[in-house]
Amino acid sequence: PRKIIIDTDPGQDDALAILLAFASPELDVLGVTVVAGNVPLALTELNARKICELAGRSDALVFAGADRPLMRALVTAEHVHGKTGLDGPDLPVPTMKLQAKHAADFIIETLLAEQSGTVTLCALGPLTNVAQVLIRAPELASRIQQIVLMGGGFFEGGNITPTAEFNIYVDPHAAQIVLQSGVPVVILPLDVTHKALTTAKRIERFRAMGTRAGDASAALLEFFERFDEEKYGSDGGPLHDPNVIAYLLKPELYRGRKCNVAVDVANELTLGMTVVDWWGVTDRPKNALYIRYVDDEGFFNLLTDRVARLA
Ligand code: BDR
Ligand code: CA
Repeated sequence: PRKIIIDTDPGQDDALAILLAFASPELDVLGVTVVAGNVPLALTELNARKICELAGRSDALVFAGADRPLMRALVTAEHVHGKTGLDGPDLPVPTMKLQAKHAADFIIETLLAEQSGTVTLCALGPLTNVAQVLIRAPELASRIQQIVLMGGGFFEGGNITPTAEFNIYVDPHAAQIVLQSGVPVVILPLDVTHKALTTAKRIERFRAMGTRAGDASAALLEFFERFDEEKYGSDGGPLHDPNVIAYLLKPELYRGRKCNVAVDVANELTLGMTVVDWWGVTDRPKNALYIRYVDDEGFFNLLTDRVARLA
């Protein structure tokens, strides 16, 4: 199986991504590293452990990382995710422990211990932890197989400012470091996730599983959708983070283009905007595979098929 580290700020959609990864035998989750984002770090790390236990994986390793972005004050999103960051289902207080090691130390040690080019970082939140690794150990960039991240958006506009997507906006400097690192980067932006809508019918498929994970997923998605549906006026809100894991499992569901992607770190109006040179009108290096299209039905089939396997 492919070795991955999930870097995350759960988050209902992060939770679904973690469930999808644990339910998929093609993936070996070496660890879950947690960052401040949707809610402060104390809550994202608690939520990550709740989700591991929901997946039946109390043996998973969860590490807490950065409690704030590299240079800016933390911006959170309780208006989307609720006070706990994981509002919706009533999940028990986890019994599994948080690892003592810092997330960045765990990632660095893992990259050194595993064969070079075999570990993929899946980033589902602000990129602070990943950037910390690249700042402290830039020579490890060549040992990372790929960084597959949910963040950004260009054609669809932003979701936290008119031009910026939340994960990139929260830590634009970290995002810029990742994009300039030379590591192969795949971006699943809002342009993709806004086509993956959690309609009532799709949520029903989780409830119909009749399992704990199915019920919890339905409750997570129902809460999450409440915000987005009202806002976007669509049947169902966008589902973001599980696209990262689905891309690893079935890249054929996605279509994009290698191009230059840069982050605005300087201008107030467009701070955190991902500027995508889709048409190649500059000679800036093609530093990312920017995904723009998804087979949304295929994506939901994959997600429900896998979550149904969890007891
Ligand atoms: C991203 O921001 C968070 O609120 C979600 O978990 C997702 O990672 C979407 O913009
Ligand atoms: Ca997230």
